[in-house]
Amino acid sequence: MAEPILEVVDVRYRYPTGTDALCGVTFSVAAGERVALVGPNGAGKSTLLLAIAGFVPATGRIRLGGHTLNRATVRDVRRHLGLVFQDPDDQLFMPRVGEDVAFGPATMGLAPEEVHARVHEALAAVELEGYETRAPYHLSVGEKRRAALATVLAMRPQVLALDEPSANLDPRGRRRLIGLLRALSTTLLIVGHDLDLIMDVCDRTILMDAGCVIADGPTSAILTHRELLESHGLELPLAVAARQTPESPR
Ligand SMILES: Nc1ncnc2c1ncn2[C@@H]1O[C@H](COP(=O)(O)OP(=O)(O)OP(=O)(O)O)[C@@H](O)[C@H]1O
Ligand SMILES: [Mg+2]
Repeated sequence: MAEPILEVVDVRYRYPTGTDALCGVTFSVAAGERVALVGPNGAGKSTLLLAIAGFVPATGRIRLGGHTLNRATVRDVRRHLGLVFQDPDDQLFMPRVGEDVAFGPATMGLAPEEVHARVHEALAAVELEGYETRAPYHLSVGEKRRAALATVLAMRPQVLALDEPSANLDPRGRRRLIGLLRALSTTLLIVGHDLDLIMDVCDRTILMDAGCVIADGPTSAILTHRELLESHGLELPLAVAARQTPESPR
């Protein structure tokens, strides 16, 4: 089997407050896979993405794009990983949307014309054409979320990690996001409570609870398993619930 593009081995992290957020997480992802991370509030999903991007000093081993994550390689790892934070305000920090989207490609050392082309393309992909000169703090929450995604798309990372990408999107924006994600050939790691989006986009689902991996398998098996989901505070996706007959056992 080819070397995985992402390898997470026995990753543990305790916040300085004493909360054990990750309690020995292990999984690996092959290039091109679309993997969902699901679980109840506080399961450790966002912390896991932060650990993979080197924003929290977890123990264990993380390898991404051929680099083992450590202080010396964290920049290389982030070059291969596009992380969209759960809160778009954590992503957008420049005075204008266009500058935020240009920031990543510019720090990669690309020529100004290439940076400009990427900004245009990324804003078009999230349907924010013409927003270059808008101030991020004057956008609606859904627009901010799309702008945050554009900042990462512009870097064309090998792995795209999205934390709750459909939160605050209206139904049309959500359908367009699903279309965009399905059209990408990038490896995807999607954290979310929108299990219907995950059914549409991800082939594989990892269920986490209390900092541990509870199940890891095909989305079609995990997200149709009512007892498994309910015992970890989740519910069947609406599309699955609609297919299951009312007589089916609870
Ligand atoms: N900055 C922090 N300091 C201390 N504890 C934190 C911090 N951020 C998260 N935690 C705790 O770590 C645990 C995991 O939180 P995390 O944000 O990773 O959960 P999550 O699975 O992303 O949840 P949600 O679905 O609500 O986004 C929780 O118990 C949470 O209270
Ligand atoms: Mg979270």
